[in-house]
Amino acid sequence: MSYLFPTYSRWEVEPESAEGSILIDKDGKRYLDFTSGIGVCNLGHRPPAVQEAISTQLNKFWHVSNLFIQEQQEIAAKHLSQAAGMDLVFFANSGAEANEAAIKLARKATGRQKIITFHQSFHGRTFATMAATGQEKIKEGYGSMLETFKYIPFNDFSALKGEMDEKTAAVMLEIVQGEGGIHIGTQEFLKKTEQLCKEYGALLIIDEIQTGIGRTGKAFAFQHFNLDPDIVTSAKGLGSGLPIGAVIGKKKLEKTFGPGSHGSTFGGNPISISAAIATMETIFQEEFLKDVQEKSVYLSNKLTELLEPIPAVKEIRQLGMMIGIETDVNLPSLLKELREKGLLALPAGENVLRMLPPLTATATEINEAAETLKSTLLEYSKSAV
Ligand SMILES: Cc1ncc(COP(=O)(O)O)c(C=O)c1O
Repeated sequence: MSYLFPTYSRWEVEPESAEGSILIDKDGKRYLDFTSGIGVCNLGHRPPAVQEAISTQLNKFWHVSNLFIQEQQEIAAKHLSQAAGMDLVFFANSGAEANEAAIKLARKATGRQKIITFHQSFHGRTFATMAATGQEKIKEGYGSMLETFKYIPFNDFSALKGEMDEKTAAVMLEIVQGEGGIHIGTQEFLKKTEQLCKEYGALLIIDEIQTGIGRTGKAFAFQHFNLDPDIVTSAKGLGSGLPIGAVIGKKKLEKTFGPGSHGSTFGGNPISISAAIATMETIFQEEFLKDVQEKSVYLSNKLTELLEPIPAVKEIRQLGMMIGIETDVNLPSLLKELREKGLLALPAGENVLRMLPPLTATATEINEAAETLKSTLLEYSKSAV
């Protein structure tokens, strides 16, 4: 019997060790891990630079509280602000906490309450972020939600225009809806959304929790679309596996989050911060991001070549190293079959196989994943008929 609440349907795999893109289970079986801990281990498992930074900090101090000046927090905040082209950071411990803070910040800064979000979006599991999420299944059984969220179809500008008014505090969106099934925002929709927000004095909050920290080949995915958000949230890849979240905001929001207005005991924890600095110092380099972009083109070509001809593959959607393969086969059993063959991948949305490979995955590993997918999808399609 398990003493854990069964909130997750767990896989049959029990990890023993992991390095780079490879995970070894208790039985010594090798897996190619194209889940990256759900988009967290962007540098692969246990990247040496991050491991060294953590162990250095472990020998200094682990926790002191935010009553103290902590230079490392300043360094991490500077990296994040500069990479996002913004000014100020609040550190939290998770994605949901970062979004929670962003929602509070937007409401307080504008003095308005309504926030527009999108169908299939995912923003977290706390009460406000669950309410922000545009998926009914996430809210089932929890009773009444915060009522100030309005949900409209993604990429539908006329729906947005219809919902926008002078009471709107913010529009909150993911550039690529990750959990919702790898749905990518269009250039036209995103740019018009930004302009409409400016027109109405509403803030644009971009949830980069899954898309940020190099995942799409830019420091943040909004940078593919030349956008100018007011608030950006980050988590997942930021700490390479150590828990950390962040809200990045513009200077004009400084007074809204004055002393005593928001807080977190563990937010900006020194160990997590040390991991975040080492992660950002690796990823936020032109050469590194260029390599991710080249790699994602290679991956895209491979997947198109090998998978597109397979009837069970309905669509392949990709931005950088975020990939969604829409299929019409039974997804849980397909993922299980892949695990048996040593490839770890994720579900998303209704019937989308999602891969979030480490940004450091090699061409050989990409080939291996694509070949495994091809043979499994072919076999699986045959046996499903
Ligand atoms: C876009 C997005 N926002 C928020 C979250 C919530 O992050 P966390 O699980 O760290 O609270 C997630 C997690 O999957 C996410 O993908």
